Amino acid sequence: MDLISTASGFSKWSKDEKIQWLVSNHLNNDSASTATLSQYWYEDKALQKLHDEFTENTISNFVLPYSVAPNFIINGKKYTIPMVIEESSVVAAASLVAKFWSNKGGFKTTIIDTEKIGQVHFMYQGDKSALITHFETIKPRLFDAVDDITTNMRKRGGGIREIELRDKTNDLANYYQLHVTFETIDSMGANFINSCLEAIANAFKKEDIHVVMSILSNYVPNCTVRAEVSCKVSELYEKDAEHYALKFKQALEIANAEVHRAVTHNKGIMNGIDAVVLATGNDFRAVEAGAHAYASRTGRYQSLTNCEIKDGLFKFWIELPLALGTVGGLTKIHPMAKFSLDLLGRPSARELMQIVATAGLAQNFAALRALTTTGIQHGHMKMHLKNILTQLQADDAQKEQLIAYFKDKTVSHAAVATAFEALKNNSL
Ligand code: MEV
Repeated sequence: MDLISTASGFSKWSKDEKIQWLVSNHLNNDSASTATLSQYWYEDKALQKLHDEFTENTISNFVLPYSVAPNFIINGKKYTIPMVIEESSVVAAASLVAKFWSNKGGFKTTIIDTEKIGQVHFMYQGDKSALITHFETIKPRLFDAVDDITTNMRKRGGGIREIELRDKTNDLANYYQLHVTFETIDSMGANFINSCLEAIANAFKKEDIHVVMSILSNYVPNCTVRAEVSCKVSELYEKDAEHYALKFKQALEIANAEVHRAVTHNKGIMNGIDAVVLATGNDFRAVEAGAHAYASRTGRYQSLTNCEIKDGLFKFWIELPLALGTVGGLTKIHPMAKFSLDLLGRPSARELMQIVATAGLAQNFAALRALTTTGIQHGHMKMHLKNILTQLQADDAQKEQLIAYFKDKTVSHAAVATAFEALKNNSL
């Protein structure tokens, strides 16, 4: 029998009441475990209230490391990039790669376009030509319907780009849509787009047009950015440069040929991308979903990066969609997101797209370089060593000794545990 009591009106309970309910229903009445929750409460009441109000039923804060990767040169400008990520090697890799490319011209980036998309999905069983006539007649009124909502955005140079009627009946019987394109300048634009779409749907519907839903699309294949690095093949590696450059290229070809590898390859790219997207208070789920759809745009899931070796020159680039904002959403409300944007020199959304794409390209460069030379575990386990030592409850002095001990040895959990025991017994 289920012994967990039903919590009714849970969201209205106080934080203490919620925690008490968790203790009696899920934590074996062990109230000591709740000290973990309270140790992450901010002493500053206003700051805690701010976090409590981001979502419902907040009982504590989940803290991730906030790191920075210096020495990035993007289009000739120096950046220190903020990254929020728990994976030990990501920031170290970003910093190394930034330094590596900083004396080879740095990263070159370009915005391809910044078009956002929203759709009114509806069902219509009547004559298609009558629908087209209705759409063409009413189209100016659809723009009128959003006049108020778009005033400020238009002042900033944005607004609705176009409203199109799309026949989707080949994919689903009776299914049509209004496909609306937007320019949202420095905001990610989710609320703006959804408000416009609902107003458009209201103005458009009639008795034989059944609106199912109106919502932005997180697939924005025309909101894309490209970041690139290039150098002479001979500058890439200290030894056997041509051999290793070829292996690097083969790694990319494998990611383009095989989905299991492609997913891991792109996951490594997202290590860099998500970390900056999170640090700047942007929606990493939207970015993830859109990036993976883009990676499948040919009908086959492939690499987001590409590489070319021609006439002794190595060129490596990424192209992906990034719907980001530097105003609105969490960007100003979350103190750390605001700090990140200050650190980046208060970039426009276009500039942030270029920084984020660079972080993704840098991660992929680091991963492929490691994978095709020393193997990934060499660097990964070195970085993970500290985590293993923390897990084993080594103190700072013991950590220092064991890090020095493993400098020229292979790190594994078992090897570290054995060495730690030996250290404690004075037999290392
Ligand atoms: C680990 O988080 C990311 C990598 O697996 C990426 C890759 O294999 O390209 C190292």
